[in-house]
Amino acid sequence: MNTPICDFVKKYAETNTLRLHMPGHKGEGLLGVEHLDITEIDGADTLYSADGIIKQSQENASILFGSKNTYYSCEGSSLCIRAMLYLALLYAKKNSLPNKILALRNVHKSFVSGIGLLDLDVEWYFGKNPSNYLSCSVSPEDLDAYLSESAELPVAFYVTSPDYLGNMLDISGISKVCKKHGVLLLVDNAHGAYLKFLDASCHPIEIGADLCCDSAHKTLPALTGCAYLHVSSSAPSFLSENAENALSLFASTSPSYLLLQSLDRLNSILDTDLFKMQLQSTANKINRLKERLTDKGYKLVGNEKLKLTVNAKEYGFSGFELAKILKQNEIVSEFADPDFVVLMFSYKASDYQLNKLSEVLLSLEKRTIDGKKIPAVSPCETVCSIKDAISAVSEPISAQYSCGRVLATLSVSCPPAVPFIVCGERISAETVKLFEYYGINECRVIIE
Ligand SMILES: Cc1ncc(COP(=O)(O)O)c(C=O)c1O
Repeated sequence: MNTPICDFVKKYAETNTLRLHMPGHKGEGLLGVEHLDITEIDGADTLYSADGIIKQSQENASILFGSKNTYYSCEGSSLCIRAMLYLALLYAKKNSLPNKILALRNVHKSFVSGIGLLDLDVEWYFGKNPSNYLSCSVSPEDLDAYLSESAELPVAFYVTSPDYLGNMLDISGISKVCKKHGVLLLVDNAHGAYLKFLDASCHPIEIGADLCCDSAHKTLPALTGCAYLHVSSSAPSFLSENAENALSLFASTSPSYLLLQSLDRLNSILDTDLFKMQLQSTANKINRLKERLTDKGYKLVGNEKLKLTVNAKEYGFSGFELAKILKQNEIVSEFADPDFVVLMFSYKASDYQLNKLSEVLLSLEKRTIDGKKIPAVSPCETVCSIKDAISAVSEPISAQYSCGRVLATLSVSCPPAVPFIVCGERISAETVKLFEYYGINECRVIIE
């Protein structure tokens, strides 16, 4: 597959051109990559008004992912999530539908900021007995019943799949229900770009999402910040007609050409049989490792192929403790909290890497600890809209004494930036227990 962006920049860097344009380093600098870092000069195309090399490269990505259109983001899935919400808003306006999004509660904070900036209404779906704030699930049957009983249908249903811990939803079933009710399906697939390239692809854009975002940088070999917004071939054409406009509402006017080259070069890798073979082989090896760990007594979470999430607490360790042991063995995890450790692998994780991890984990014997149980995540009273909360005057206070106050900030934990209480909601006694459990000492509340 061709690489028009990389080819253009390489050719430009090889000339002796006097760069009287941005960036200020003029192609020379401390990192050694500056010669490849250009801006939207003549011939380099314009992201979000693309009709040249960026358009060609995005079309390559669209072929690879099987979408109607794929758009690049140099600002992560965060940008694409806000753009998806803006598209839903425009779609609602055009079709005289309510400005309301139904969302599974385990959203990333960029969803909350998008809702606030666009002043959309949000209806939260908490799911049945969520075991922790990072996971929230719905079956197609439950969604069907919920939508059938709704007095007013939302314009879109928004889900996160895979979630941060590696749980995946039945996107195909959910999509059929959304289609039946005339509701758009928006998927935060930030953790699942690679799903398209497994032997049995289960990428949301292929199995029913209207719009979805992927962070290329999370699971594919791309630079941090690289992401995609995909529009499905079966989605209303209005969405692709307005997608560039939606992305540019929130995006910087100075996209990074290093990131654009990373996405462009990635196409040529994703297009190879070698990539797919390595990915599938790694997924199989991780699966075998998961089986060995389960046999040893570990409780693992989720069914995502490139992720291994250990419920450390069930094995007698806190997540922090297990992450520390791994670190002492030169293995750094993606995330740890009192309960879980999340480990993310490359598509071509080597036997050496997998064995190294397996040796450490299998050398530990199961213990029993009297760890505290995760406090229940329950709905809090909504006092004002997210927009009103983020534009209100606020003050920091000790989380311990925050009960009864109204939260003002987008997220209370980062990473993973999934808010267990959303701004505009009243902090309850249960929330204070969650603050304590997750070691959150301070929060910002609205001055009423
Ligand atoms: C579930 C989820 N969605 C969205 C995002 C935002 O992605 P990005 O960092 O690419 O902006 C993250 C980031 O960690 C995430 O975990």
